Amino acid sequence: MRVGVLTGGGDAPGLNAAIRAVVKKCEKYGFEVLGVRRGWAGMLEGDAIPLKYENIKDIISRGGTVIKTSRTNPLKQPDGINKISENFKNLGLDALIAIGGDDTLSVAKALSDAGLNVVGIPKTIDYDVPGTEFTIGFDTAINEAMHQIENIKATADAHERVFVVEVMGRHAGWIALYSGLAAGADLILIPEEPFSIEDVANFVKRKIESGQKAIVIVIAEGALIKGYKGLVTKDMKVDQFGHVYLGGIGDFLAKEIEKAIGVETRSVTPAHTIRGGSPTALDRLISTRYGLAAVDLVKEGKFGMMVALKAGNIVAVPLSEATGKTKQVDSQLYDEAKIFFE
Ligand code: F6P
Repeated sequence: MRVGVLTGGGDAPGLNAAIRAVVKKCEKYGFEVLGVRRGWAGMLEGDAIPLKYENIKDIISRGGTVIKTSRTNPLKQPDGINKISENFKNLGLDALIAIGGDDTLSVAKALSDAGLNVVGIPKTIDYDVPGTEFTIGFDTAINEAMHQIENIKATADAHERVFVVEVMGRHAGWIALYSGLAAGADLILIPEEPFSIEDVANFVKRKIESGQKAIVIVIAEGALIKGYKGLVTKDMKVDQFGHVYLGGIGDFLAKEIEKAIGVETRSVTPAHTIRGGSPTALDRLISTRYGLAAVDLVKEGKFGMMVALKAGNIVAVPLSEATGKTKQVDSQLYDEAKIFFE
């Protein structure tokens, strides 16, 4: 039996832990492993390397992915699925484990629908994949973001300044909400609940008038402004999955606050720094469990499925449950947090 493993989409801390576990479990079962390089690009090109546990046993603590990643979308290429099917055969694969977020898993589902033996592992720092309570990388990302927001709080406090901190989170505000709450931010703005610039400026004004001069606002990159069409972006470039390159709403909001109330407002964007670091213990552990469980799905012939965490247990859910939708912050949770934004 020969098993391929690939990582697609944005990298996430814990990918290497999952790859390492896949290889360990495969070797236990006597399976060979090929690391498909650069996500779906590697499947389109037939670019894969053998992975041996003895060579990768120490990668558990490393961020990034040793087999590289890309945002290549084979469904956008003429004959993409056929090319992948051919390379599946050419590489001698019996099964493929695809580690990724909604985009990568949607391709995995399409390939599974086309008859290929594919299993998924959910990964994304954005935490927006449905059907699971854990996605690889989220825990590290929120911890990193929390530390950076805390650092900003300290300097904001020293200088009695207003700061806007923009964190990743395209269509879901999980990173902003969790890291912002954990760091004690004064206001958190998420894509799920569009905000008005006037309200935010008035919030800052009210705080200052009440004697609080250091204010830290956390905003998700995909937050929406009431009355504005679409997202605030640096430019209109899109990736192969049709996602526009986000970034810039923090700067934009800071300038708008200054304009509205005349108070100097700085902006900071941690961006990729929160997804490139060494994984937390939780990210290492669940990613490891995911890797082990994915190989079991392969052994049992349970294809078209994804490993998932539900109530502390690793389970298998159909790829259809995890794709085509975005898991967003529910309004009840956000409303609960609002007590800290008064
Ligand atoms: O992986 C998800 C994500 O972290 C989003 O929050 C962000 O918009 C995007 O990746 C950025 O990806 P890239 O580095 O490919 O531009």
